[in-house]
Amino acid sequence: WSFYAPLILQINRLKKQKDAVILAHNYQTPQIFHGVADVVGDSLQLAVEATKVEQSVIVQCGVHFMAETSKILNPQKTVLIPDSRAGCSLAESISAEDVEAMREMYPGVPVVTYVNTSAAVKAVTDVCCTSSNALDIVEKVDGDTVIMIPDQFLAQNTAKKTNKKVITWAGACEVHETFTAEDIAELRHAYPAAKIIAHPECPPEVVDVVDFAGSTAAMIDWVKTEKPQRVVMVTECSMSDNVASETTGVDFLRGCNICPHMKRINLENVLWSLHTGTEEVTVPEDIIAPARQAVERMIEMSR
Ligand code: 13P
Ligand code: SF4
Repeated sequence: WSFYAPLILQINRLKKQKDAVILAHNYQTPQIFHGVADVVGDSLQLAVEATKVEQSVIVQCGVHFMAETSKILNPQKTVLIPDSRAGCSLAESISAEDVEAMREMYPGVPVVTYVNTSAAVKAVTDVCCTSSNALDIVEKVDGDTVIMIPDQFLAQNTAKKTNKKVITWAGACEVHETFTAEDIAELRHAYPAAKIIAHPECPPEVVDVVDFAGSTAAMIDWVKTEKPQRVVMVTECSMSDNVASETTGVDFLRGCNICPHMKRINLENVLWSLHTGTEEVTVPEDIIAPARQAVERMIEMSR
């Protein structure tokens, strides 16, 4: 930490001078999560918090779709992302044209879109969802069939808990799709007493055999509440690092993957971003209004 201290100090000073707030996802490194973030959380929490921001500048420490969501909810504010190349394999997997084609194939079926998508995709969506409210939103939309895009695994995991028919898309998170039931069996064999928890972007064969599955915030809450002696968080690696420093007496075992997109954000480019006012996130006017409607509908429906 003493290595990072000068950067953390500069960022926190500059943040005040520039009237900026830093929103950071749970997958950011501990030096960002604990050192400079004003608000941390999962995708839903960050979207909700973005609606309450008072500062004129938002620095999004997360991936591009998260910064777009903040911009959609705050069109009058400046939204910065320290590295605009921070993408997401799910957001890359589907375009607005793909969604229109699905609508033509299934006329009248509501489209529930994971927030891990571009603003253009959100704009042709009925309502968004995150991993923490997916089931709730699917249950609340009209009809007995729903199109749930683009994460096939989140959709399959949700489909198992609802009586509705769920039509899926072939997208996947590159961090979570590689976990297998065999990995979990090996972890159970190596650490018989450990609890194993996973993100619902993992394939159902994984979610079905773990002790708990939930959004990044739900996983953190689970560890803080259950206080297992030993735990494996089957998700992005910074999760364990971030929660470990807030949880004494829990032994965190490794069973994680790194998200290369989340890891594009670091203290150096956060400082640079604040100094230079780059990289500014923009969303075309005609996309902001319908995309915002889909996100706000989600926030409203998950209250
Ligand atoms: P959460 O909404 O659970 O934080 O998930 C976001 C994400 O990108 C997980 O891979
Ligand atoms: Fe996208 Fe997966 Fe990275 Fe989350 S962890 S940002 S879903 S690639």
